[in-house]
Amino acid sequence: MKVLVVGGGGREHAIVRTLAKSPKIDALYCAPGNGGIAEQAQCVPIKATDVEAMVAWAKEHAMDFVVVAPDDPLALGMVDALEAAGIPAFGPRANAAVIEASKVFSKGLMAKYHIPTAKYRSFTDLEEALAYIRQEGAPIVVKADGLALGKGVVVAQTVAEAEEAARSMMADGKFGAAGSQVVIEECMTGPEVTVLCFVDGEHLSPMPPSRDHKRAFDGDKGPNTGGMGAISPAPGYTPEIADRCMEEIFLPTVAALKAEGRPFHGVLYFGLMLTPDGPKVVEYNARFGDPECQAVLSLLETDLMDIFQACREGTLDRLDIRWKHAAACCLVLASGGYPASYEKGYPITGLAEAEQTAVVFHAGTSRDEDGTIRTAGGRVLGVTAVGETLDAAIDGAYAAAKHISFQDMHFRTDIGRTF
Ligand code: AMP
Ligand code: GLY
Repeated sequence: MKVLVVGGGGREHAIVRTLAKSPKIDALYCAPGNGGIAEQAQCVPIKATDVEAMVAWAKEHAMDFVVVAPDDPLALGMVDALEAAGIPAFGPRANAAVIEASKVFSKGLMAKYHIPTAKYRSFTDLEEALAYIRQEGAPIVVKADGLALGKGVVVAQTVAEAEEAARSMMADGKFGAAGSQVVIEECMTGPEVTVLCFVDGEHLSPMPPSRDHKRAFDGDKGPNTGGMGAISPAPGYTPEIADRCMEEIFLPTVAALKAEGRPFHGVLYFGLMLTPDGPKVVEYNARFGDPECQAVLSLLETDLMDIFQACREGTLDRLDIRWKHAAACCLVLASGGYPASYEKGYPITGLAEAEQTAVVFHAGTSRDEDGTIRTAGGRVLGVTAVGETLDAAIDGAYAAAKHISFQDMHFRTDIGRTF
């Protein structure tokens, strides 16, 4: 088979490296890819959001299957467009990807189908939003409706902070159209856990639970980022909690989407909070998380291509998906200054040494003609180690990362250690 993966970050590198093991695949392509992905796949210089160009290229080069990994092209209907052109694709159609693309939609779905989540209201009018904030008091959470690169959420500790967040989203247009509607919700407490599930429209298969670290600095301080590291399995997600999540959250969500005429095929990301009242949904994503994907796929034993095909064809219930009884840790090495401004183009050394004991997924890198790898993004690399225990995996990732350096390299020293 000829397979194209859409995207160019650490998540896509993990997908490409995992697919590369499949005996079914003869040729792998990735658009746009990056400096590391270029080692396993042929990179195609098309932007992940350019639906028209992507479909045209896939058609012209006779792709047998396309995996759409990032949120934007899913929300833009890339899977719909590929399927309309006769090219089988992995990922939800736009009408199901909306579960991530609109928080107003996802909160409404949970309310209608009694799926546990924070109490909320949605607003298009700023004055009404401000009045609700004053009525409810702090702490309170303000969320932009649309996709905002994980930065459209403010957990406000004071009423003034919440008012300021609502104003900047709704009146100042900080997130453009994504912020013209906001969801204001109750602040929940408890450990967070991510459960990624393969979904085929009707059946679902949960992956090992994971946890990412969204803040830039140690001790969960500093601004939110796309994710500075991830571990799997996440401690604290007991079999009892897993059963409860399956009954109260996972199965009802998949059934709700089907009942709404929006069957979900792809990876459904459940961002959960284990509150004193039981597990509740913090957010849904319509794709693998990044960097959760890098940790979780490191534990997969089954052929990923078989799983992707089963998700598309509705045959997931006939597939036995196996996972290593081990743990994984993905440590993100970022550019100094990320998530704000940072320099690019610095040469990276020590990759081969790190690869002796870990897998280094590239997130934001480029490759010169002579093979030199350079920094090309905020999150640069995801050093990922597997161990028998979580401690061994964490130690393995840090030990391997010691070999790597580039100017202004920044990473957290407490991945997997603080919650
Ligand atoms: P989201 O983008 O919706 O995942 O939100 C980003 C982060 O904000 C989450 O990972 C939580 O840590 C936090 N958060 C979001 N919603 C709530 C909530 N209702 N209560 C407490 N924390 C929240
Ligand atoms: N790591 C969180 C996300 O991918 O949304």
